[in-house]
Amino acid sequence: MVIGAQWGDEGKGKITDLLSRSADLVVRYQGGVNAGHTIVVDGRVLKLHLIPSGILYGDTLCLIGAGTVVDPKVLIAELDMLLENNIDTSGLKLASNAHVTMPYHRLLDKALEHDRGLRRIGTTGRGIGPTYADKSERSGIRVLDLLDPHGLADQLQPVIRQKNDLLQTLYGLEPLDPESVIKEYIAYGQRLAPHVVDGTRTIHTAAQNRKNLLFEGAQGTLLDLDHGTYPYVTSSNPVAGGACIGAGVGPTMIDRVIGVAKAYTTRVGEGPFPSELQGDLNHHLTDRGGEFGTTTGRRRRCGWFDGVIGRYAVQVNGIDCLAITKLDVLDELAEIKVCIAYELDGEVIHDFPIDARQFARCQPIFKTLPGWQMDTSTCRALEDLPANALDYLSELADLLQASIAMVSLGPERDQTILVEDPIHGPKRGLLSH
Ligand code: GDP
Ligand code: IMO
Ligand code: MG
Repeated sequence: MVIGAQWGDEGKGKITDLLSRSADLVVRYQGGVNAGHTIVVDGRVLKLHLIPSGILYGDTLCLIGAGTVVDPKVLIAELDMLLENNIDTSGLKLASNAHVTMPYHRLLDKALEHDRGLRRIGTTGRGIGPTYADKSERSGIRVLDLLDPHGLADQLQPVIRQKNDLLQTLYGLEPLDPESVIKEYIAYGQRLAPHVVDGTRTIHTAAQNRKNLLFEGAQGTLLDLDHGTYPYVTSSNPVAGGACIGAGVGPTMIDRVIGVAKAYTTRVGEGPFPSELQGDLNHHLTDRGGEFGTTTGRRRRCGWFDGVIGRYAVQVNGIDCLAITKLDVLDELAEIKVCIAYELDGEVIHDFPIDARQFARCQPIFKTLPGWQMDTSTCRALEDLPANALDYLSELADLLQASIAMVSLGPERDQTILVEDPIHGPKRGLLSH
């Protein structure tokens, strides 16, 4: 399983694509089109929002699982984008019980954000929160509902009436036309029908046939609804345990949890971020790392690597090994800082405080390490890395009490150092804590 160990955008897409080489089925289990996973192959850039990052391998099945929320319009655009790139999409499967993001969800997401004013979350505006809210409230529309035109009309009429009330009365917005929404979504159902399956059965049939399964997390640990920096979080569970619920598997089926973390930290949207940088260094990392949102194009906030949240991520996900990405982005720096603890109200703390108000008051305590000021983007083995870069990685492994299995030095597949086998466990044990 691949999960994000920070605030998202850690490079999960690149790592999932690499590991998909030896997978038979790749599963997304939570989140929706708020995710943006980038894969770069021979200079060609593919941005995926819903389709698992295993889709580039023709014989790999890719399942959008029950725990995701599906915006059919965006999914169809993504399918078309892949087809234009001559990528076979026949292996894409869509769980019939996944919930559907509707136009009123997008409108309400934006209206709610506007209403929050200074307390806004900085959502992606893709309707994620309202879709999950309707799911919990049991008024959601599921993929299987799109395949039943008459049933869909009956189901949607009262829901749209109620949502129109909200849109008009509370937010002063134009109402939606129920007939055109119903027509539009019936058409989406027809287009997606060949991909729709019983997702749980798909997974368990593969498991019974001893196939290799890979679960691809979206977002990151600190954006988790229960374990992240609430309320500045997303509405699903990106932590490893989320896969059990979102895919319908028991915890005993998960053999390995691979935590992906950038060699520094980024965050998009609002919320506390103790190791955040201001000024020139922030701009250097944003520009050098291309830190602009894959989904919204927003500038990502950048800061030093945060060992406190990293350690927390290792714990709440049960991370077996780490993939450290974007080490090359630090190449030019003369010195690099790592946040090793926080000062909270005059006390030094080493553990992540779950109360967001306390977290917002945390001041970072940094350790400064020398930079390497060499190009690492062409390194292909640990031995090729400058000594200071190796020391930096060892520092991260020590801080997080986890071994580093992969180091990524650029967006392309081959810009990766395989330190140990991330799926079957350590061989060489280099950088193990
Ligand atoms: P995800 O949401 O976790 O899949 O990450 P994103 O795709 O949103 O953001 C990661 C960005 O960094 C993408 O543009 C990747 O192509 C790029 N990337 C991934 N790994 C590396 C790396 O090691 N070095 C550099 N320079 N870029 C990388
Ligand atoms: P990937 O999978 C980074 C952030 C938003 C906002 C908060 C809530 O590419 O790592 P939402 O639209 O989910 O209600 O927004 O979560 N967010 C992400 N940040 N990467 C993502 O996905 C994100 N998905 C949501 O910016 O702060
Ligand atoms: Mg992303």
